Amino acid sequence: MHIDDFHRYTAGELAHLCEVNEDMEVNLHHHEGIKYLRVTHFLKRPEKLAEFLQMFPAEDRNKTIAAGESTEIKSSAPGFQQYIKDFYFSDLNKKIFDIGKEYKIHRFKHESVKFDNFTNCCYPGMKAYNQNYLPHTDSFGLASNLYLTDAGNSATSFYRVKTKSGKVYHNEFDLRYIPKEEQEDLLSRYQYNTKDSGWSDWVHFEGDDLYEKYHDIPSEFNTLNMYKGNIWHSIKYNAETDPLRYSLVTAMIAVNTY
Ligand SMILES: [Fe+2]
Repeated sequence: MHIDDFHRYTAGELAHLCEVNEDMEVNLHHHEGIKYLRVTHFLKRPEKLAEFLQMFPAEDRNKTIAAGESTEIKSSAPGFQQYIKDFYFSDLNKKIFDIGKEYKIHRFKHESVKFDNFTNCCYPGMKAYNQNYLPHTDSFGLASNLYLTDAGNSATSFYRVKTKSGKVYHNEFDLRYIPKEEQEDLLSRYQYNTKDSGWSDWVHFEGDDLYEKYHDIPSEFNTLNMYKGNIWHSIKYNAETDPLRYSLVTAMIAVNTY
């Protein structure tokens, strides 16, 4: 083993990878009951950050299953993820936090928030696991996705849940107030996405009887999209025609400080 074989950096070199453009463009969007932020032209050197992140190892569940092995991955996210300590992104995460606060996407205090960083990678030919092309809500409060490739027609799609009578609900919180007569019907249909259905071909999902799509936010290179995790959403990705889709996620989780 030789010291020069390690990938070592100075603090300045690491900061350089995540430096943001001062002339980034921030836009707050309101659309049918939801709001989200879209920041274009975000980083100064997105290609450099992508090259750096690529070096982190990952288990690809696609490969695990193909090899006949079992996986410990609990995530329902498609493709594969790299779990990278927030240590590398503290300035970037703070910047994302500040933008979100300025545009009132969240009201967290910085000292009451925990950041979780990971990447998402969807790629041509990947499979679906437990129907993970279906809409979901996140376990954390606020999601930010920074796109590090030009991912064709890929997007984050937003869905509302539709009951038999035609009423629609945009987030899990609203389901608390659903009339009793509609509850059973909805639950029976809602639960199909939690079944252990295993491995299947990837589906370019655009909605069905239960999930009605109402908005797409394009996955554009060097653009940051920020939205609340309790809104149903999914990765819109065509595994036959779209190129590799690589993004860095900053998840914000509110924690108690007492
Ligand atoms: Fe999500």
